[in-house]
Amino acid sequence: MTIWNLGSINADLFYDLPRLPRPGETIACDRLTKGLGGKGANMSVAAARAGARVCHIGAVGPDGAWAMERLLEYGVDTRHIARVGAATGHALILLDADGENSIVIFAGANRALSDEMIGAPLSEADAGDLLVMQNETSHQAYAAELGSKLGLRVAYAAAPFDAAAVTQLLPFVDLLFMNEVEAAQLKEATGKWPEELGVADVIVTLGARGCRWYGPEGVEEFGAPKVTAVDTTGAGDTFTGYVLAGLDRGMEMADAIGQATRAAALMVTRHGTADVIPDLKEVRAFRA
Ligand code: RIB
Repeated sequence: MTIWNLGSINADLFYDLPRLPRPGETIACDRLTKGLGGKGANMSVAAARAGARVCHIGAVGPDGAWAMERLLEYGVDTRHIARVGAATGHALILLDADGENSIVIFAGANRALSDEMIGAPLSEADAGDLLVMQNETSHQAYAAELGSKLGLRVAYAAAPFDAAAVTQLLPFVDLLFMNEVEAAQLKEATGKWPEELGVADVIVTLGARGCRWYGPEGVEEFGAPKVTAVDTTGAGDTFTGYVLAGLDRGMEMADAIGQATRAAALMVTRHGTADVIPDLKEVRAFRA
């Protein structure tokens, strides 16, 4: 089967700082590094490294050839990434000494997608394929509705959180990923707890404490390996990509979550995003 990912592609600019600046403060960074990122690209790379066939649907600008090349080198099908006039998206990532971050994104080409750029690739999808999206591109609602009509299993990572966007997509979503803060924001917006949303499977990630899965049989908690985090950026995307790849390969949800939890734990011990997502061999060998 194939995982179709309508997802953002960013240049991630990492500024390593002793601590995050306060409002109005200027602070010098110790190191600046650039890599491939974007929640979408990170998920595509994670799923590909976990052994899945992944077709990325997205857009880059005239300055984005390097990002497409890199996705290709990482095993992602890039045939459905459009080249548009707007500049490629980027993210400014402020990273403190404890591995915590603050991120500002410039959407650029990620928001220049059209229905046609999404509909054409999805016409190649087979019923039973997975479709995933996040909140960093345009036209997620169109994609979710179309994917659902075509018989795809629709997954949605509700980040960056936008209550209106999530509620619009919910009727078409089979698998919803949120972190604790997003789950609380959604509860505030809809008045509903995860198990009341009408979504077959909801996974709420709990950072270093693991995650909670609200599935057809009820709620199950999963712990996470104890590690020393140096950079938490992209760990959630790695988790999502690994869960999807596991499901795509026919794993039970609990097993897919277990493997994804180890991948995310390993990821936070590394600096960077898409470029450093661990592959399946590393995840299997990983002992905390
Ligand atoms: O989730 C991490 C990602 O968020 C980064 O790669 C950055 O590009 C932003 O989209």
